[in-house]
Amino acid sequence: MTPKISAAADWIQSRANLSPSAAIILGSGLGGLADKIEDPVAIPFGDIPGFGTSTAAGHRGQLVLGTIDAVPVVAMAGRFHRYEGWSNDDVTFPVDVMHAMGASRLIVSNAAGGVSPKLSVGDIVVIADHINFMTGTFAWNSKQSVPCFGRTHSGPTYDTAMSKTAMQVAVDTGFAAYRGTYLATFGPTYETRAEYRMMRKLGADVVGMSTVPEVLAASNRGMRVLGLSMVSNVANPDRPVKADHEEVLQAGRAAEVKMEAIVRAVLGLP
Ligand code: HPA
Repeated sequence: MTPKISAAADWIQSRANLSPSAAIILGSGLGGLADKIEDPVAIPFGDIPGFGTSTAAGHRGQLVLGTIDAVPVVAMAGRFHRYEGWSNDDVTFPVDVMHAMGASRLIVSNAAGGVSPKLSVGDIVVIADHINFMTGTFAWNSKQSVPCFGRTHSGPTYDTAMSKTAMQVAVDTGFAAYRGTYLATFGPTYETRAEYRMMRKLGADVVGMSTVPEVLAASNRGMRVLGLSMVSNVANPDRPVKADHEEVLQAGRAAEVKMEAIVRAVLGLP
């Protein structure tokens, strides 16, 4: 652990005396889940040493500490994106810090375009694997995170037990959820029809502009990871529908109850 990571972790824990067992990242439009945290202590990202200030629309930009069903958690309401100009280290720093505070599990969510034709707006995709199109043009240049991603090729990056539980919640509660592959782009533009067509051919089920850096950092730290996408727009190359940020946020609000049910069930796992 670097001094920068431990300094941030100590700073946070001096304000919220809590050792979280799980970290949660709430993506676009999903930040309302932070309101379900009991006895919350909310800290603006910008106040925390080493954190940036989240600027994406629809993101609260707060770290919220407290409990959900008596499980101590730390949640990011909002996150840092590469498309905002943050480096990979900036994007993954909060994961390192939440891990340093004690979190051994990460539940990471996002709003994503539904590339698979079976998906509709509001569906949940439990991420089984990912395709990283954010690779190639950045240098992973600090000692902050474990710099080796080799683990992703030799073992599961996404936790099987947490994924199974998430799928079971969908069955029990009666909403649509699929296991699928998340493709990450740098953004910030949505795709052309040709790009959506290509992504389908490559085997992607959903596409978004986040999550993979945080998952890789968490996985390299040995955290168990659950990744959830909420389909905010259908990316149909043959029947183009304009994707806009407001649509993404609205779908997020509607899908919050599903996310909440999954989060509660997964937190209850041993
Ligand atoms: N493409 C990329 N990122 C996204 C999309 C999309 O269609 N929807 C939400 N995030």
